[in-house]
Amino acid sequence: MKVRAAVLEQFGSPLEVQDLDLAGPRAGEVLVRLVACGVCHTDLYTASGADPSGYAPTVLGHEGAGVVERVGAGVRDVEPGDHVVTLFSPQCRECVHCRDHRTNLCLAIREQQNQGYLPDGTTRLSRDGEPIRHFMGTSTFAEYAVMPEIALATIDRDAPLDRACLFACGLSTGLGAAINTAKVAPGSTCAVFGAGMVGLGAVAGCRLQGAEHIVCVDLSPGRLDLARGQGATHTVAGGPGAVQEILDLTGGFGADYTFEATGNVDVMRQAVEAARMGWGLATVCGVAGKGETLDVVPRYLITGRRVAGSSFGGVKGRDQVPQFVDLYLAGEIDVDPFVSHRLTLDDVNRGFDLMEAKDGIRSVIDFA
Ligand SMILES: NC(=O)c1ccc[n+]([C@@H]2O[C@H](COP(=O)([O-])OP(=O)(O)OC[C@H]3O[C@@H](n4cnc5c(N)ncnc54)[C@H](O)[C@@H]3O)[C@@H](O)[C@H]2O)c1
Ligand SMILES: [Zn+2]
Ligand SMILES: [Zn+2]
Repeated sequence: MKVRAAVLEQFGSPLEVQDLDLAGPRAGEVLVRLVACGVCHTDLYTASGADPSGYAPTVLGHEGAGVVERVGAGVRDVEPGDHVVTLFSPQCRECVHCRDHRTNLCLAIREQQNQGYLPDGTTRLSRDGEPIRHFMGTSTFAEYAVMPEIALATIDRDAPLDRACLFACGLSTGLGAAINTAKVAPGSTCAVFGAGMVGLGAVAGCRLQGAEHIVCVDLSPGRLDLARGQGATHTVAGGPGAVQEILDLTGGFGADYTFEATGNVDVMRQAVEAARMGWGLATVCGVAGKGETLDVVPRYLITGRRVAGSSFGGVKGRDQVPQFVDLYLAGEIDVDPFVSHRLTLDDVNRGFDLMEAKDGIRSVIDFA
């Protein structure tokens, strides 16, 4: 079939919306009609050429939500009509990592996915017979996508897909960092650095876990207002003085749990230094620039602080994304403030411009 898709032809150039060929789903694969898709930093990172593992041409997009149109042979867990959120971090439920509660890093299709292929090593996307590689196993800047069944979370059909799509990446990453990685204890004190989609999700996750004090740190007063809406009890202006302010707010000790959601290695260091001696846990969510390293004075660790990293918030997507969506439907997570702009697929490059201007939390593409 022919599909409209936003193609990255060349690093550093705007995406080009054009017609591509999409072949039907093979064994274990599913054809999804996209209804909505968020525009995320990772798409821009790849489009810019900064990502050393990036490739072109490809169809970007990974924060998708849509409806199952058709399933390939052997697909057991989804059927036509199901509403799904796409998972760049799949869950096969069989590999050694999927069977272990300590990680969500499914190994099943990792290598092929990283190279832009579906699990059998081929692509369903093409143009004039020339294969076009998939991106993050998703390629959701398109009217339709063919994806492995293990990379789809089936959600409640009552959930509006233009908000459910945010659970495909940043929101679940923040929620999961607090709930799965840090396992924030009730009554505790948390500090979240960064109030973008990930940091705001972490604030919401800390609140859901019953944290008593949640300090949010950001450079933007508008984003700190959004953090209050998600449950932050204190806000602090980002910068060199932020650690001292958190120490002052916590009797000189620091927070039980800190979270970094900026991608800045200096802020990662602040997250470690703002964690409480004895047991403070700093969870790093941000993706640092190529070659950058985290500089920590070891004494912070000797005196009981710990550092953890979190990919997609430790979320096992097929199991936990539907639970998060249920919390949203139950009124426990306020997703509406995150949808700042609505775009058509033809406007996808405007989504990148808005992101670079730090205008809003997320632009969401509506596929009419
Ligand atoms: N671990 C994962 O699986 C995963 C998933 C999605 C995104 N990410 C990464 O998480 C990070 C955050 O993503 P996002 O979508 O929320 O980005 P974002 O750009 O929307 O938010 C980052 C926020 O950090 C703030 N900030 C910048 N410098 C600061 C400072 N010195 N002190 C305090 N705040 C500061 C900015 O004002 C901004 O509000 C990025 O690095 C992104 O690549 C990781
Ligand atoms: Zn993303
Ligand atoms: Zn697995």
